[in-house]
Amino acid sequence: MGPSSRENTPMDPRNLSRKPLIPWLQAERPIDWKRQFGRKAILEVEIGFGYGEFLVTLAQTHPEWNFVGLEVKWASIQKTLRNIAHAKVCNVRLIQAEARVAFDRLFLPQSLHRIYALFPDPWPKKRHVKHRLFSHVFLKLLNSRLICGGEVRIITDDEPYSNWILEQASGTGFQAFGELIPPRFGTKYERKWHESGQKEFYELQLLKQEHVEIPLKEDIPLKTYHIEHFDPDRFQPSNERGKNVIEFKEFLYDIKHRKGMVQVVVAEANLTQNFWIEIGQDRKGWYIRVGKGCGVVPTTGVQRALDLVRDAAHQ
Ligand SMILES: C[S@@+](CC[C@H](N)C(=O)[O-])C[C@H]1O[C@@H](n2cnc3c(N)ncnc32)[C@H](O)[C@@H]1O
Repeated sequence: MGPSSRENTPMDPRNLSRKPLIPWLQAERPIDWKRQFGRKAILEVEIGFGYGEFLVTLAQTHPEWNFVGLEVKWASIQKTLRNIAHAKVCNVRLIQAEARVAFDRLFLPQSLHRIYALFPDPWPKKRHVKHRLFSHVFLKLLNSRLICGGEVRIITDDEPYSNWILEQASGTGFQAFGELIPPRFGTKYERKWHESGQKEFYELQLLKQEHVEIPLKEDIPLKTYHIEHFDPDRFQPSNERGKNVIEFKEFLYDIKHRKGMVQVVVAEANLTQNFWIEIGQDRKGWYIRVGKGCGVVPTTGVQRALDLVRDAAHQ
């Protein structure tokens, strides 16, 4: 095989187009899906798409609809980008985000037709139940983002998780049904459980009957502070542990350029952010602001971290 025939194979990393991946931290929120896809169409979402086998099949089966995949793992996103390129589908977009954050901020109420999750992590141990995604609260959030008559479809290998979701669905505006189905989706986890001997899986269908209103979480405008004096040797911001957790890590100071950077982790409900706050000089004195290019979601927790830096820098 000559070098030219090796090029342009679907697995060639040079063919990995990142075009379907939306840099949502830099995008205007909620996302204008019509603009992202270049057309208005039925919009469906898959949570935790793994290697994207099902998402790509959906896109091939319904070229007239738009599909968005949510996934937290970068390796899965890379693999799925390859699968999308290989299948040459144009109606899929990917978002690297935790599902609760994405539904809170990226999709308008009553905008989605269907939401899928195949083999979501069942967290079988009792002490891990709190990590399960499809809780009562999350189901209400999904309800609010679906159109009337829309549905959530969940496939799981785990009977206790299936029963738990059915219990959680009560009072969320959904009518819930469960049935046993044979393997039919060809995803990595379906193959895994099938190969280990499982012949049937639990399919849950949650049909939206009543609307639950949960407004979009919106960004708050972050302040840039100015102070007159700053002494890097006395700078020691205090951590805070309340509803939100704010923890300061490293502080770096460049004496020559009189510029400091403090690393901070802000943990709020469903959203943990790790970023830098800059302390530097301009015409108005010492400024304190979120580091340029940090790509944070502007929240009250991020603002609180800025307040704590200002208080410590002020002393
Ligand atoms: C057990 S795997 C199933 C993957 C795929 N659906 C399949 O059937 O092969 C669960 C997937 O959900 C993703 N995931 C877990 N929690 C998530 C969350 N809160 N938001 C988005 N993705 C999540 C994980 O990274 C993982 O890829």
